Amino acid sequence: MSLKLVGTVALVTGASSGIGHATARALAEQGARVVAVARRKDRLDALVNDIQQSGGEALAIASDITDRASAEAAVRQAVDHFGRLDILVNNAGVMIIGPVVENEVRDWEQMIALNQQALLYMTKAALPHLEAAAESDVRGVADIVNISSYAGRVASPNFAVYNMTKFGVNGFTEALRQELGGGHIRVGVLEPGAVRTELNDNHSGVIRDDIEAFFASIEALEAEDIADGVAYMVTRPRRAAIGELWMMPTEQTYKV
Ligand SMILES: NC(=O)c1ccc[n+]([C@@H]2O[C@H](COP(=O)([O-])OP(=O)(O)OC[C@H]3O[C@@H](n4cnc5c(N)ncnc54)[C@H](OP(=O)(O)O)[C@@H]3O)[C@@H](O)[C@H]2O)c1
Repeated sequence: MSLKLVGTVALVTGASSGIGHATARALAEQGARVVAVARRKDRLDALVNDIQQSGGEALAIASDITDRASAEAAVRQAVDHFGRLDILVNNAGVMIIGPVVENEVRDWEQMIALNQQALLYMTKAALPHLEAAAESDVRGVADIVNISSYAGRVASPNFAVYNMTKFGVNGFTEALRQELGGGHIRVGVLEPGAVRTELNDNHSGVIRDDIEAFFASIEALEAEDIADGVAYMVTRPRRAAIGELWMMPTEQTYKV
């Protein structure tokens, strides 16, 4: 079987756990050189080691991408190291849910800072390099995949600000898709339903109990399922762009 991403470089944010970790591995399995970005360096180093043991190439960059200068530096470091950037997966995200009247404003600020602002910083910094990759003869196309959520399609109580951040990601993605398609940069959004990861570890009390009961009531997705989806999106022929991929657990009919 021929690997479809040989010669490319893919940067994945939030690669220290969950969906980002699985995505970094999946893209490396297709031959991409992978840049793994998150704050927990020990986790990133272990991932890089895993990829190298399997014969791939990877680089760990410890960065808090809610800081604009750090996000820009991460992209610069990736390109300095591997010489190009073909694929950006904006995956890092945080979810802190609860009723609006009870939520802490600082939790909203954290969600907006990571789910939206950091995604913008990474995208803006990556664009010149993606444009160059799209013009190169490796694939003649470049990719941005934004990890949104089922909560970017459907709003529900307790999710208001998380909904706001993910609805925003969906709108930004489609606008950018239309702006960049002519230059052969594909921009798509992937919207997972419930995936078993560390995302829900921020909660306590009733919300945590509800989330745990919900996950116990269905066969949730695994991070590898979403990684498969990302790999599918970025390995289409140059002419084919997946603008939106909505991936749900078969049994999920409602939110927590
Ligand atoms: N799990 C689900 O059910 C589900 C459903 C729909 C959508 N999603 C979306 O999927 C994406 C990945 O989430 P996940 O489920 O895989 O959760 P996760 O395991 O908690 O992963 C979140 C990642 O974001 C990184 N991160 C957090 N703050 C950061 C910062 N300031 N700078 C850089 N990286 C940061 C974390 O690494 P560090 O802590 O090391 O920085 C971690 O690698 C998110 O956008 C989430 O909204 C998840």
